[in-house]
Amino acid sequence: MTATRNAPPLQGKRLLLCIGGGIAAYKALELVRRLREAGAQVQVAMTAGAQQFVTPLSFQALSGLPVRTSLWDSAAEQAMGHIELARWADRVVIAPATADLLARLAHGLADDLVATLCLATTAPLTVAPAMNHRMWLHPATQANLQTLRQRGVQVIGPVDGPLAEGESGPGRLSEPEAIVAALVQAGEDIGDEAAPAFAPSGELLAGQRVLISAGPTYEDLDPVRYLGNRSSGKMGYALAAAAAAQGAQVVLVSGPVSLATPPGVERIDVRSAAQMREAVLAAMPADIYIGAAAVADYTPVKVAAQKIKKSGQSLTLEFVRTPDILAEVAAQTQSLKLVVGFAAETHDIERYARAKLTDKRLDLIIANQVGVADGGFESDQNAATAYWADGERVFPATSKTRLAEQLLELIAQRLQA
Ligand code: PMT
Repeated sequence: MTATRNAPPLQGKRLLLCIGGGIAAYKALELVRRLREAGAQVQVAMTAGAQQFVTPLSFQALSGLPVRTSLWDSAAEQAMGHIELARWADRVVIAPATADLLARLAHGLADDLVATLCLATTAPLTVAPAMNHRMWLHPATQANLQTLRQRGVQVIGPVDGPLAEGESGPGRLSEPEAIVAALVQAGEDIGDEAAPAFAPSGELLAGQRVLISAGPTYEDLDPVRYLGNRSSGKMGYALAAAAAAQGAQVVLVSGPVSLATPPGVERIDVRSAAQMREAVLAAMPADIYIGAAAVADYTPVKVAAQKIKKSGQSLTLEFVRTPDILAEVAAQTQSLKLVVGFAAETHDIERYARAKLTDKRLDLIIANQVGVADGGFESDQNAATAYWADGERVFPATSKTRLAEQLLELIAQRLQA
């Protein structure tokens, strides 16, 4: 099923939207509105927990369809049985997806209507998690997510920010517009059972395990503040998508960003430089490492247990150096065939980039200029120059998607060198 030109981007798509039991359920009301504006038919199903936060009637009013709440509702089952409903959907979307729901999906439980629908459907599944940040970072939740991702489940968010409990961290439901945009991006797969979740566009990296870091790191100062940077993760995610499209087995270690995981990529979410180091080292061995993340160079000596209060006219905080993940990876010689770093520079680009190439013992470094409007951090565009011991190549400004494809071609060539 392909949308016609100028039609709303989700025109005619049948979305089964499952609501999990979290405070973010209220945002799903807006999501229904936006999905319908985008042309989708939206059938809502709610867990018992979700109904504690928002009434089925609210969703019925916005979706224009009766809401399904129980496996044991004989009237609803007579109108459309749950197996029929699971078959009806072009895509199943769970927003918010709670830690409990992710765990039940990962383990294949069918203990309520929503879990049963997810087990009974052959439609692609998208989850937009939302929960307390400690629950999100818990190894059990991350392991469940990894299982789901390995099954090809699309994961959108969560994003970093203030949470309902007065704390802050990764766990906020992605904004409805971001969820719709990610669904539109995945739109080629919606409703087309024949379409693979991911279509390799080449075999340049077939059989290679590629480990990529992306996004910023956040170093917490106290329960409400952190030291971060402007990396959006776009460059690293584009590289992960391009590597997967070239047949690689891709592991993406990501700082806090609000981007959808590229198809076929295993993603591990982290927050701080220390967590990123731990996740990268745990994901080894790999054939290729690409360090596209903007890792904090310094972290506070201690994280204040309580909010730092205003007192004097100035505030001095003490920081210590973070370990250099890239240099540490490059020092591990067992399996690595190629170690690629990035250099984000504002001036003297070649000098600084070549110094990093030598000091960190890299095979290749991709230098890009930061602090400019159309490139570097946040932008959808970028330009770069790749340096290696006895060569260099200039990549003029283009989209990060295209640049990533070109860089992966160079990486495949350097692998043979
Ligand atoms: O995410 P986007 O908004 O798309 O922006 C993309 C980008 C500008 C972040 C990306 O293209 C980029 O340049 N990434 C590297 C940013 C950076 O931290 O550069 P650096 O010159 O400070 O670090 C050099 C290299 O060492 C990088 O590969 C970095 O990942 C790595 N590093 C740095 C410090 C540290 N403690 N550990 C590291 O591994």
